[in-house]
Amino acid sequence: MTTNTRIVLAARPQGQAGLEHFRLETVPFEPLQDGQVRVRHHYLSLDPYMRGRMNEGKSYAAPQPLDEVMIGGTAGEVIESRHPRYSLGDWVVGMGGWQQYSVVDANPVGALHRVDPTHVPLSHYLGAVGMPGVTAWYGLVRIIDPKPGQTVTVSAASGAVGSAVGVLAKARGCRVVGIAGGPDKCAYVREQLGFDDCIDHRLHPDHLALAKALKAACPQGIDGHFENVGGAVLDAVLLRSNAFARIAICGMIAGYEGQPLPLLNPALILINRLRVQGFIVSEQMQDWPPALAELGQLVGSGRFRPRETIAQGIESAPTAFLGLLKGQNFGKQLVRLV
Ligand SMILES: NC(=O)c1ccc[n+]([C@@H]2O[C@H](COP(=O)([O-])OP(=O)(O)OC[C@H]3O[C@@H](n4cnc5c(N)ncnc54)[C@H](OP(=O)(O)O)[C@@H]3O)[C@@H](O)[C@H]2O)c1
Repeated sequence: MTTNTRIVLAARPQGQAGLEHFRLETVPFEPLQDGQVRVRHHYLSLDPYMRGRMNEGKSYAAPQPLDEVMIGGTAGEVIESRHPRYSLGDWVVGMGGWQQYSVVDANPVGALHRVDPTHVPLSHYLGAVGMPGVTAWYGLVRIIDPKPGQTVTVSAASGAVGSAVGVLAKARGCRVVGIAGGPDKCAYVREQLGFDDCIDHRLHPDHLALAKALKAACPQGIDGHFENVGGAVLDAVLLRSNAFARIAICGMIAGYEGQPLPLLNPALILINRLRVQGFIVSEQMQDWPPALAELGQLVGSGRFRPRETIAQGIESAPTAFLGLLKGQNFGKQLVRLV
C-alpha cells in the first residue's frame, strides 16, 4: 500500500454541517525526512469540538483550514521510522487527522505519545484513557471538587466525557445523577456505569419538566454539575442547585450548529452564590498525568468499561461525525481504519 486516503474540509457550513462540507481524496505516500515517522492509524476519534473548528469565527483555537485534512486524534502503529526514539511496531497516539496514515515530525514534545495496549485496549486511549477522560477528570476534580455524600449531575451522561465524570464521581463517594437521551442510554448509565439515577431528557422536553425530574432524583439538591450540553439542561440544573454549588462548563453541544442557547434565569448564579467555570482540557497539561493514572487504573481493572460506537473505514467518518452531532452515538464515537 503506497497511497493514503483522507478526508479534507471542502467548505464551511453556514448553519448545519452536511456531507457536502467534506471531500475524500487519495494521495501517494510522501517519503520520510529525518526525524519523521509514518503511523498507520487503527482508530480515529470523532469529537464534538471538530464542529467548531469547521467555522471561521473567533474561538479558543484556530479554524480548520479549507482543503486540509480534518483535525482529529488517532491511535495507531509506527510502520516506518527515521526517528531514533520510535521503532516499527510502536503503538502511538497523536493528532493524525481524518486519514489512514500520517507522517509525523516526532521531535516536538507531545507530538506522539507511546501507549501500551496490553491491559487497556488501544481504542480507549482516544476515549476514557485519553482526551475525553482527562476532560472529565479536570472538570470534576479541579472545578467541581466534590466531597463524599454530595450530589453531582452530568449531562450527555452516556458519552465519552459524561460516562467518565460519573465513574470518577462515584469513586469519590458522591450521589451521581446523569441526564441522557433515551431509555437504552439511561439503562446503561444506571446499570453498567453505576450512576444512582439517570433522567431521560427526551421525556422532559422543557427546563421546568427537567427541573421536576431533577428534584425527584436529587432530593438533597445539586452540589456540582458537569455541563456538556447547555440550553434547557443548564436552566433546569440552576433551578435545583444548592448554595455554593460548582458548575463546570465543558461543552454546549446543543448550540454547536448555531442554535441560540439563552440562559433563562442568570440571577440564580447570584442567588445561589454559584461558581460557574468554563475550561479547555488542552490548556491543563499539568493535570493529564494524574488524570490518566486514575483513569488507566479504573479501565485496566475493569471497574470502568467504556462503551464505544465504531464506524468502519475512513469513508464513513463524515456520516459518523454528523451522527455524533445529533446524539446518534452511544459512548465514544470512533472510526476503525484497519
Ligand atoms: N472543554 C473541553 O476541553 C472539552 C473536551 C472534550 C469534550 N468537550 C465537550 O464535552 C461534551 C461531550 O463530548 P463527548 O466527546 O463526550 O461527546 P458524547 O457525549 O460522546 O456525544 C455527544 C452527546 O451529546 C448529547 N446531546 C445532548 N443534547 C444534544 C443536542 N442538542 N445535540 C446533539 N447532541 C446532544 C448526545 O447524547 P444524548 O443522546 O444522551 O443526549 C450525544 O450522544 C461536548 O459538549 C464536547 O464539546 C469539551
